[in-house]
Amino acid sequence: MAPLSAPSEAVTTGKIIHATGYRNLSPDELVDLAIESHIVHIVKRSVVGGDESFFIADLGQILRQHRRWTQHMSSIRPYYAVKCNCDPTFLNVLAELGTGFDCASIEEMRAVLSLGVDPARILFANPCKAPAAVAFAREVGVLRTTFDNIDELDTIKTHMPEAQLLLRIYANDEGAFICLGDKFGAQLDTTEELLSRAWELGLNVIGVSFHVGTGATNPSSFCKAIKDARLAFSQAERLGFHLKILDIGGGFQDDCFEAMAPIIRDAIRSEFPAGITTIAEPGRLFARSVYTLVCRVISRRRQLGSAARSGVPDMLYQNDGIYGNFMNVIMEKETMVPYLVKSKKARGFLHKPKQGDALQVTNHRYSIWGPTCDSTDCVVREVTLDSEVKIGDWLKYKNMGGGFRHFILGISTELTELQHIQVPRPLSSMASAAPMTHFMSIVKRCLAISWCSAEGICGLGFIGMGVAQSLA
Ligand SMILES: Cc1ncc(COP(=O)(O)O)c(C=O)c1O
Repeated sequence: MAPLSAPSEAVTTGKIIHATGYRNLSPDELVDLAIESHIVHIVKRSVVGGDESFFIADLGQILRQHRRWTQHMSSIRPYYAVKCNCDPTFLNVLAELGTGFDCASIEEMRAVLSLGVDPARILFANPCKAPAAVAFAREVGVLRTTFDNIDELDTIKTHMPEAQLLLRIYANDEGAFICLGDKFGAQLDTTEELLSRAWELGLNVIGVSFHVGTGATNPSSFCKAIKDARLAFSQAERLGFHLKILDIGGGFQDDCFEAMAPIIRDAIRSEFPAGITTIAEPGRLFARSVYTLVCRVISRRRQLGSAARSGVPDMLYQNDGIYGNFMNVIMEKETMVPYLVKSKKARGFLHKPKQGDALQVTNHRYSIWGPTCDSTDCVVREVTLDSEVKIGDWLKYKNMGGGFRHFILGISTELTELQHIQVPRPLSSMASAAPMTHFMSIVKRCLAISWCSAEGICGLGFIGMGVAQSLA
């Protein structure tokens, strides 16, 4: 990798800089550059600062994932599942790309509508909704929603009688790490009764949906669900409904997407020969790989005595854990993979190496823990890193976009395509509304975003949810 100079000035001041110097960098290199730049910025403000972790969002990765989708699922329109990650910058790029949105709550609908998205692009994909949420959806014009039980039909009849309904049927991939079938989805021996009740109530059923579970690995679970959906379609048609939408839900994974896509497409083609619209609700496939989380090591326990002799790994304590952005360690049993941020600028602020005190470059085994006093707050049980890690060092974790909680530092690594995408609204309003210092005082955890104008100029500036809200 060529020596890089971090655009720290541009990031901290929001100055426009030329992108030419960065064009040859890979997405990973650009992300690393943004990490270094933000760390330099944090440490400049306060050497002992950086007590909060931060994210970097690679907006170019959204484009790459979207491109993957359109290549392999060209006839299936994605309705991104907002619950997975509701960062407004991320949603804004998807809105510009023309996706639909699967929202599960009032807050999610608000987040999407605030971007100026037409309510017709939103599916309220929660089959068990609070009456107030149904009333809200009606008020803002989100008419498409799902149901899977009789009481829900009554709620909908009362609060949104003109709803366009999708019957959510049971589906389950045994290998999925979140089995949504445990909570939602009508069994096939109940669908006829549900559809009859909808007919009696004069409601409008327009389609069938399912979700095989998050982290599905078995394409036959999709095939089975598509077959079941066909049966439900037939039941509905016998009652007099004219169904036109098949919603195949989410559950798509990065490492088997290409292998599963043709099997899913074929199953749809054979069960639904023509004339229906197929949509999907991908969440993690779009969001996960966009985000890198960077945490700071705040404390360390080098093993002594018998623990050292029996080879218990040294322990690192970092500023984020399972009660923060590592919830998926518990929720989804995800194995986290840390990388030490090795850039010289990012290391050694607290420990200026003395002569003979160079960081060792031999393997080190660590367990990694969150900042709380709870002993379940363990992020990584054991990992071997190729350098010693000290207090003040930074660890980065890739693929952290599924279920993040905090603010984002964003950078685009697809400059040419992003030229055609408008600068996200919060950023454009921020740029003209007040000087950067003002924003710095509003948001503690900031996010920076880069974009590229038609002249090939790359801008970097800070943006944060707090900012967007305070300017709204
Ligand atoms: C109704 C619904 N749609 C879509 C998704 C997104 O699923 P995934 O992230 O597995 O694609 C979820 C999962 O949380 C969901 O509950």
